[in-house]
Amino acid sequence: MTIKLLTSHASVRKYKDVTLSENELHEIVRAGQHAASSNFVQAYSVIHVTEPETRAELARLSKNPQQILSAGAVLVLCMDFYRVKKGANLLGKEIDFSLAEHLLVGATDVALFAQNIAIAAESKGYGICYIGGVRNAPEEISELLNLPEGVAPMYAMTIGVPDEANEVKPRLPVEAIIHENSYDAKKYDHIIPAYDKTMNDYYMSRGSNQKAAAWSDSMTAFLGEPRRTHMKDFLKKRGFEFK
Ligand SMILES: Cc1cc2nc3c(=O)[nH]c(=O)nc-3n(C[C@H](O)[C@H](O)[C@H](O)COP(=O)(O)O)c2cc1C
Repeated sequence: MTIKLLTSHASVRKYKDVTLSENELHEIVRAGQHAASSNFVQAYSVIHVTEPETRAELARLSKNPQQILSAGAVLVLCMDFYRVKKGANLLGKEIDFSLAEHLLVGATDVALFAQNIAIAAESKGYGICYIGGVRNAPEEISELLNLPEGVAPMYAMTIGVPDEANEVKPRLPVEAIIHENSYDAKKYDHIIPAYDKTMNDYYMSRGSNQKAAAWSDSMTAFLGEPRRTHMKDFLKKRGFEFK
């Protein structure tokens, strides 16, 4: 049952006009909190954006208006070391979260929290979409949401009753991901071209937004150019210094 739910996931970018109740949202976020957490830091907070003006501004800044404006709930998922710093301060102590290691701890915690939220929401019949577009304007969004130092928005998640049904995107074959005992680099000479064909066939035959595109072409476009180069300075300003 759970595996069927996981393997049925497809992002939903258009929702019916149904707002999630506070009870339901709390239930879903509580499920998120039960993800494992590195050293139990629980290095995340979520801003539930309910004010229409704030939502509109978030939609504009993150450049994903359809998802954000139509969703039944909009959550901005943040890495949060402010709270643990505050806890130390209340003990009259200081902490340092500026190491690269802390960034990995925080980013991992947020991702696990987020994915638990996604699964909890999908288990209740909702559709979800992550919005990494939040990192298009992290400074402005931090100001909009009044985020203190030690808190950085990582992505938003839109949740709602689906108003579109997307086909499940074929993943890489499991053999591409699993290596037995040691890393087998040679196998990609045949696995990647085969997967490129699978993805191209998928894009050409899906119900909407058909296109000719192989996975390697998309990845080369994605990673061939520098993207969001402001993130390093932004994270440093928030206290994450990669020391
Ligand atoms: C961290 C993260 C950020 C994402 N950001 C966006 C986004 O800004 N806009 C969007 O439409 N989809 C976004 N997505 C969704 C991905 O495009 C999607 O998960 C991927 O293409 C696989 O498709 P599927 O989720 O339908 O299986 C994001 C996904 C993740 C995990």
